[in-house]
Amino acid sequence: MNGKFPQHFLWGGAVAANQVEGAYQADGKGLSTSDLQPQGIFGAITPRTAGDSGIKDVAIDFYHRYPEDIALFAEMGFKCLRTSIAWTRIFPQGDEETQNEAGLAFYDRLFDEMAKYGIQPLITLSHYEMPYGLVKHYGGWGDRRTIDFFERYARTVFERYKHKVKHWLTFNEINMSLHAPFTGVGLPQESDKSAIYQAIHHQLVASARAVKACHEIVPEGKIGNMLLGGILYPLSCKPEDLLETQRQNRDWLFFGDVQARGYYPAYMQRFFRENGIQVAITEEDRQTLRETIDFISFSYYMSGCVTADPAQYETARGNILDMVPNPHLASSEWGWQIDPIGLRYLLNVLYDRYQKPLFIVENGLGAKDRVEADGSIHDDYRINYLNDHLVQVAEAIDDGVEVMGYTSWGPIDLVSASKAEMSKRYGFIHVDRDDAGNGSLERRRKKSFYWYRDVIHSNGASLKDRR
Ligand code: BG6
Repeated sequence: MNGKFPQHFLWGGAVAANQVEGAYQADGKGLSTSDLQPQGIFGAITPRTAGDSGIKDVAIDFYHRYPEDIALFAEMGFKCLRTSIAWTRIFPQGDEETQNEAGLAFYDRLFDEMAKYGIQPLITLSHYEMPYGLVKHYGGWGDRRTIDFFERYARTVFERYKHKVKHWLTFNEINMSLHAPFTGVGLPQESDKSAIYQAIHHQLVASARAVKACHEIVPEGKIGNMLLGGILYPLSCKPEDLLETQRQNRDWLFFGDVQARGYYPAYMQRFFRENGIQVAITEEDRQTLRETIDFISFSYYMSGCVTADPAQYETARGNILDMVPNPHLASSEWGWQIDPIGLRYLLNVLYDRYQKPLFIVENGLGAKDRVEADGSIHDDYRINYLNDHLVQVAEAIDDGVEVMGYTSWGPIDLVSASKAEMSKRYGFIHVDRDDAGNGSLERRRKKSFYWYRDVIHSNGASLKDRR
């Protein structure tokens, strides 16, 4: 490993409001789409009735316990913490003309707490949730008016936090709307492709409007997009497999292409035509899209394989993307294939394609941890996973890729997105809570806590090339 992490590399961790905060009705917060999915992002949409309880209602109670958690992050030496603002804390129904002051005040307190330790916020405007009011009354992102509501929200938080937050992201894993439309764009799961791409188009326009607003209001700030970096390899060197791989990679790279280049890529015309997809795009929309992001951010957990033979797809499923297993890779307990070299490859693919700085804003291993009788947790599997991925980040830096930072997913145990489980743990910090919601919520340092502290402290020099 030759690559050196730059001096001001943003080391840290990433969480999301709906997976940590809890307090789902506190201080005037409205219901979000996430509040209606107690079983996770693929789960049924469940109307809320008084007295019922989903695991996310309390989550890890970050809303009340953030000072303790931020102090623990500071102890590891975090330079950066990625979290999201819950849109429904600021505009509870989504279409109000005035903001909810109590919601804004919460994030003031949170950012002030981070500032005490010199931890920079990296803030996602929308992470897998939107006001349910906008879904109910407007049909979510299917309606153009949602663009204006989102812009109002974005401008409100840029104005409010412009002195506290310099790094922003628009929509978490914007490409996942293709697979989980309710979570991504507030549309029914069974929506047809035209409806989904129309809603996605509105979201892309809204993202560009937020970029413009950020450039105006926070001129010294930076704003990026956020992609699910689901890089796919051909299962064989058969030309048909290669072509199919290119096609499927374009399914998600399309989002980055629009956000980084400012226009729809040529290949989408044929895709829309051949799939009978109609998307209404105005001239004004095209102008708006020209406002492009400053950097690319993405999540990376695994790679997958593609073949032109549809029969082979029945064998595996990742979190969101359909993939065929790679015979050369091992898998996590949740069947996600572990591929550190894939991260180096992906960093190079994205840098070659966009020539913009990159930020790895999610990466980590979901695993079951065992608490020993003395309270210790020996999560060497997590240390190995993260170590090996970071070694590959160093390699990519040596390849010449500009990497701004790395925020591992779930530095503290949180509710998983896909199935709303607590037992799928990512943290350096253990939280005493089980899938049924039992537990004291007590925080406990795992072995990986000390390992990550050393990595940050040495700016990556303590990483071990285990190949
Ligand atoms: C990403 C999301 O897809 O993966 C996170 O942005 C999510 O919200 C993470 O938690 C890990 O997925 P899961 O299902 O293990 O929580």
